[in-house]
Amino acid sequence: MHAQPGVGTRPGAPVEARPTWRADLESREAVTAPEPPDSTGPGHGYLPATSFRSRRSALSGAQRQTWDRLWPELGISEIPEHFAPLDTGAWFGRKAPVVLEIGCGSGTSTLAMAQDEPAIDVIAVEVYRRGLAQLLSSVDRERVRNIRLIRGNGVDVLRHLIAPASLTGVRVFFPDPWPKARHHKRRFLQTVTVGLIADRLLPGGVLHAATDHSGYAEHIAEVGDADPRLSRVEPGDPLPISVARPTTKYEMKAHDTGSSVTELIWKRR
Ligand SMILES: C[S@@+](CC[C@H](N)C(=O)[O-])C[C@H]1O[C@@H](n2cnc3c(N)ncnc32)[C@H](O)[C@@H]1O
Repeated sequence: MHAQPGVGTRPGAPVEARPTWRADLESREAVTAPEPPDSTGPGHGYLPATSFRSRRSALSGAQRQTWDRLWPELGISEIPEHFAPLDTGAWFGRKAPVVLEIGCGSGTSTLAMAQDEPAIDVIAVEVYRRGLAQLLSSVDRERVRNIRLIRGNGVDVLRHLIAPASLTGVRVFFPDPWPKARHHKRRFLQTVTVGLIADRLLPGGVLHAATDHSGYAEHIAEVGDADPRLSRVEPGDPLPISVARPTTKYEMKAHDTGSSVTELIWKRR
């Protein structure tokens, strides 16, 4: 069990500048997948599977070689609808608690947290191929055994690949905030997604989110607190996984722009 530090808001440097997410948004385009035909189960009423695809996803020669060598064993790209839930024991070659990280970017937090907790298996989900390729190269270089990767939309992964009550943790660090009101429906963390996450967590399992966008932080707090299956974690509560995140480049930029980072952590009842 981990006593969890730092629940709440971390102050950043008081400098006025562009929020980090804005620069990030400028290099991406929105992609909206069709609504899944299934209208029953925890995904019912689901938000359109909106995400981003990078326009600059070409891999370097070395990344390509590593991808071709390791992806068949460590990665999954296709997520058919109505796919049977993943057999994570077979994929990792052992039975261990599983954490899903959605929107891992280039995987800085994924790698560090998986290295800190070798007894926990981590599945990193991302739509951005070059980010996954960077993480895959790090996994190879550092000989990390407890990371697997999925290229796809976190919504589809939760709906089609993850069984109910099977995860010890779900991490969503710095999800794209979609700051314009008319785009709020594209945010990853909202009522239906949080409900789906709650459904996929084991009792005692942890949902850990972090954001540097204050409006999104308030929204996440509201929807998480409104889900009767989740209870807010208080500082010092014992948890089955660590919530100590490394400070990533993304977060450093957030601090430089004067944004505060809010950590939001719940436990499945
Ligand atoms: C702002 S970045 C943060 C990356 C990383 N978590 C970090 O802290 O540095 C958000 C990431 O989420 C990914 N993303 C957005 N929507 C997603 C979705 N529906 N499923 C999977 N990844 C998604 C984006 O491609 C992007 O890499």
